[in-house]
Amino acid sequence: MLPHKKIELKLQAAVRELLPDADVSAVLVRPCDPKFGDYQSNALMALAKARKLDPRQLAADVVARLDVSGVCDPVTIAGAGFLNFRLIPALLRQTLEAAARGEHLFFDLAANPKTVVIDFSSPNVAKPMHVGHIRSTGIGDALQRVLRLLGHRVISDNHIGDWGTQFGKLLLGWKQLLDRPALERDAIAELERLYKVINAECDAHPARLEAAKAELVLLQAGDADNVAIWREMIALSQKQFDAIYGRLGVSFDVALGESFYNPCLGGVVADLLARGIARESEGAVGVFSDGSLPPREDPFLVNRDGEWLPDPALVRKSDGGFKYTTTDLATVDYRLKTWSPRDIVYVVDDRQSGHFKKLFLIVDRWQPAAAKNTRLVHVGFGKILGDDGKPFKTRSGDTVKLGDLLDEAEARAFVIVSEKSSDMPEAQRREIARVIGLGAVKYADLLPNRQSDYIFSWDKMLALQGNTAPYLQYAYARIQSIFRKSESSSSLVTRHSSLALAAPEEFALAKHLLNFGLTLEAVAGEYRPNFLCNYLYDLAGKFTSFYECCPVLKAETDATRDSRLALCALTARVLKQGLAVLGIEVVEQM
Ligand code: ARG
Repeated sequence: MLPHKKIELKLQAAVRELLPDADVSAVLVRPCDPKFGDYQSNALMALAKARKLDPRQLAADVVARLDVSGVCDPVTIAGAGFLNFRLIPALLRQTLEAAARGEHLFFDLAANPKTVVIDFSSPNVAKPMHVGHIRSTGIGDALQRVLRLLGHRVISDNHIGDWGTQFGKLLLGWKQLLDRPALERDAIAELERLYKVINAECDAHPARLEAAKAELVLLQAGDADNVAIWREMIALSQKQFDAIYGRLGVSFDVALGESFYNPCLGGVVADLLARGIARESEGAVGVFSDGSLPPREDPFLVNRDGEWLPDPALVRKSDGGFKYTTTDLATVDYRLKTWSPRDIVYVVDDRQSGHFKKLFLIVDRWQPAAAKNTRLVHVGFGKILGDDGKPFKTRSGDTVKLGDLLDEAEARAFVIVSEKSSDMPEAQRREIARVIGLGAVKYADLLPNRQSDYIFSWDKMLALQGNTAPYLQYAYARIQSIFRKSESSSSLVTRHSSLALAAPEEFALAKHLLNFGLTLEAVAGEYRPNFLCNYLYDLAGKFTSFYECCPVLKAETDATRDSRLALCALTARVLKQGLAVLGIEVVEQM
């Protein structure tokens, strides 16, 4: 077990002894400013506050029951009741040596694995995947990878938009205007064209709108022709999605699109009506406020001119059609019954936060028993902006297609790689450019706090300096080059080495390596991959300081050299593993 876990368990035991009914799951330790120690816990202050205890007294009482001998120096209490822990050097060394022997990589598998459904990417059929899809796809994929690494059970689900009123228009267009050769050249572009033409016609001529609706009704009634065309549209779109997922290295456990839930929608509405959760209003069916929340926090109310008016979630339209919310309710029901998850996570644009607020509140009312055991989490994110601070667009003002964006990333990286390593064979430069270009785009998207908007900048994300993927990939490749020069493979060296830390830079690097697992846990706990980006950036920085101050291949003694090589190897492994769970590859040479 890793030292921080040992401390955490001992701390939790001491708290439980003192306060038998306390929930100790939030009693955690975190890395802290080296001035104070290696780890810190601020959990006692929250406990004290909730129980109206004196926080410093509580801290003293806990410390009196806390036996961390063999793990830390005597615990110190700071400020309003922080506990500070400093590892004993022998344990630090043992932990590193065990990692060097391959026994762990600074993380423990979760003691209580959770089942998590992650709903992410979820593009719509007949539309191109655009730059915005990198957000949900990249964040969702990083989360599934981190959770899996820690031993949690993940069900990743691509909730594809393959059902809805747009298919009436698409079907009408397909039957009357389809350009077959164009479809074969670029299916999505042709589907988009059909939709745009028919949509404009429908706006201008009510008769066209009626015709489109008639096609939709036929599809919903299972008409063989329309169902066949609809299936073909899905297959064509899926081909495009798969090409992009292949390039990004993203995969899903299931891809249950919206249409999968179609047979359940009538039942959902009937059940909501029967339980009095939904009611009819002007021919439609909706869920209204139940008055349990203050108006300001109640998503089922809107304020117009100082007056609170109902803003229901519609689950059936007056024409009998169902809504996005209805499908999402059926989806929650299915996921609860099929997987009994601890969390259901939706990696979806923050612009849909109103939808999810309503959805989650309806689920609480509709399935109170299940809702107690399952947490619904909207993992929202902000927009990608251009230099002008407006949503990122092409020069001509169109949305940027994701495939084009990835092409450009690889092309730009190829120019950079070719400048640096003109002597490398072209195929190798292409492969490096692929890894660097895709890594740069993914990392730039994972790095900011996901809720903030960020400005898309090729120069910034591809820079070899600064908090970028190429910087981290370069740090990795540089370590590999040390091993090439040392004529000893990294695995051979590390298996036999014993660690001897002396310089402050060695200690700083070693202690930071130990924080890898804590960081992964924080990512998995709060669904924030940016914690890992910042950790890896700090790791590369600490490695650089170490490498500048501590000669490795020219170390004074063989023992020092081996010890430092072991630190190099561990750093490389953590960089590689950390990038891998962000969905980013490395190359041995750049
Ligand atoms: N297809 C939807 C869109 O493009 C996203 C679906 C997100 N997932 C969900 N369960 N609502 O807006």
